[in-house]
Amino acid sequence: MNNIYQKIFENNKRWVASKNEQDPDFFKKLTYGQKPPILWIGCSDSRVPANEITGTEPGEIFVHRNIANMVVHTDMNMLSVLDYAVNILEVSHVIVCGHYGCGGVLAALDNKQVGIIDNWLRHIKDVYRLHKSEIDAIQDPELKSRRMIEINVQEQVFDLSKTSIVQNAWGANRELHLHGIVYDVANGVLKDLQLNISNNQHLDNVYQLDIDHI
Ligand code: CO
Repeated sequence: MNNIYQKIFENNKRWVASKNEQDPDFFKKLTYGQKPPILWIGCSDSRVPANEITGTEPGEIFVHRNIANMVVHTDMNMLSVLDYAVNILEVSHVIVCGHYGCGGVLAALDNKQVGIIDNWLRHIKDVYRLHKSEIDAIQDPELKSRRMIEINVQEQVFDLSKTSIVQNAWGANRELHLHGIVYDVANGVLKDLQLNISNNQHLDNVYQLDIDHI
């Protein structure tokens, strides 16, 4: 058997020991529950671990990951995570984090069939079609893919703002900020796309929902 599997238990023992050494109550405090201020929607890519790249600890970020950090409005998994994070945990920030070199986005721009995933990635083709003129105007293939990855993050943030979950939170005057960021696998740096959306005014009127005031 590949010893990488055994190694995770050895690593875990060392991690438990070091956490207990830093703070003997570290694990005890975590048993009281969680109140993370941030929901993170990131890519499943193994090179983009949410806690590690943000220097956060267990208890600080509620995490949802899927291929190419997508916010697909029929995805019950994403909707359940979002609803729980916004309405039960009461997070004040939702971050969509993409990453340069994202295989999902690159595959979506290609014509080759990969498998079942093609159906998931088709949402990215829709994003490309919306921004075709800007993307096609970029000649350099690397810059083109980097911009496409940024635009995909931006559209996923907009898709978050189209949900009734997010719009009802804003309608109830809850503090809820949506952010788009991109991680650079090549140097470890996070880039803030400066979206910082906290109302639905940027959306086409057809997406702006009447809010039920209970
Ligand atoms: Co990716």
